[in-house]
Amino acid sequence: MALLLGMESSCDETSAAVVEEKNGILTVRSNIVASQIETHRLYGGVVPEIASRAHVEAVSKVTAEALENAGVALADLDAIAVTSHPGLIGALLVGVNFAKSLAYANKIPLVSVNHIHAHICAAFLCHPDLKPPFLALVVSGGHTSFYAVNEKMEYREIGGTRDDAAGEAFDKIGRVIGLPYPGGAALDKLAYEGNPKAILLPSPALVGEEIALSFSGIKTAALNYLNGAEQKGLAVNRADLAASYTAKIVEAIAKKTDLALGQTGLKTLVLAGGVAANSHLRRALEALCQKRKVRLAMPSVALCGDNGAMVAAAGYFGFRAGCFSDVALNASALDYPEGVIGTSKPQSQKIDKK
Ligand code: KG4
Ligand code: ZN
Repeated sequence: MALLLGMESSCDETSAAVVEEKNGILTVRSNIVASQIETHRLYGGVVPEIASRAHVEAVSKVTAEALENAGVALADLDAIAVTSHPGLIGALLVGVNFAKSLAYANKIPLVSVNHIHAHICAAFLCHPDLKPPFLALVVSGGHTSFYAVNEKMEYREIGGTRDDAAGEAFDKIGRVIGLPYPGGAALDKLAYEGNPKAILLPSPALVGEEIALSFSGIKTAALNYLNGAEQKGLAVNRADLAASYTAKIVEAIAKKTDLALGQTGLKTLVLAGGVAANSHLRRALEALCQKRKVRLAMPSVALCGDNGAMVAAAGYFGFRAGCFSDVALNASALDYPEGVIGTSKPQSQKIDKK
């Protein structure tokens, strides 16, 4: 058995969670998320400096609450896992420095975690029998990427977006049609009230056999549609736009997922990331997996967004592989290639665990 504290501060959520591992099964004991959405809503997007300050204010309280709710003392922890990359550098540094201090002062092994991998590992918290290999699709505010994950939890990025992320594309159009920030969830609901065939928009799926998407074209086309209507003094049916836009994005992601499943021959698909909460996308991928006889493992909607439990889950794989970081661990805004999920340690050394 192992107890891990997971810490997340890569964007606009400060989160800490305690996850317990027993016979390889991961269970959430507590998961506290302090969201900054209300703070950033005023600006229509995340303001990095404000995010960093809000993390500083929240991090101690959130961590204490996670430990208390789990009924766990610092001395009980086997490891502290922290998101070190990719993300907003100032925001990441808050979590990384806090986790380093906590680990150093209490002699607890520290595990560095990649945020995108953590999203994938959220699936283990909801599907105890999930086993690699699998295809993972991470769709979030910052990423839309496909990974082939092997038996050793090593993975290879096999495709994704060439420009914007799907979440960014949803949020942008949500904002211009006046939906509350972030627009993704509100657009999801509004799409049910419109006709998905009402407005002709370009597909984000690039032509050909490459597992490649591009969301900049559809975003520009939707903006042009709105500007054109305004210039002509025509009213826009926002629900039709939400439905047409969502349908095209979901269809494109499903098409490239189909291609990725075909090319890799993998029989399990993990759908993760904030946009994995999108009900249209969940349904489309359910239908695809049913057709292909592929198992679909999605985290619950509550675990799709950024949270500490997914970081602890990813950290477990690093812990299990014996990959630890020390006080030299640094944060990085960028993603970079690495091996085992959750064990990236670009500026750290392996240390003996407790
Ligand atoms: O993974 P996440 O919490 O943060 C990043 O790592 O980016 O993802 C946040 C993104 C936002 O763009 C948000 O609008 C989107 O996830 N999102 C949704 C839905 N719920 C959250 N997008 C579409 N439909 C939803 N239901
Ligand atoms: Zn995320």
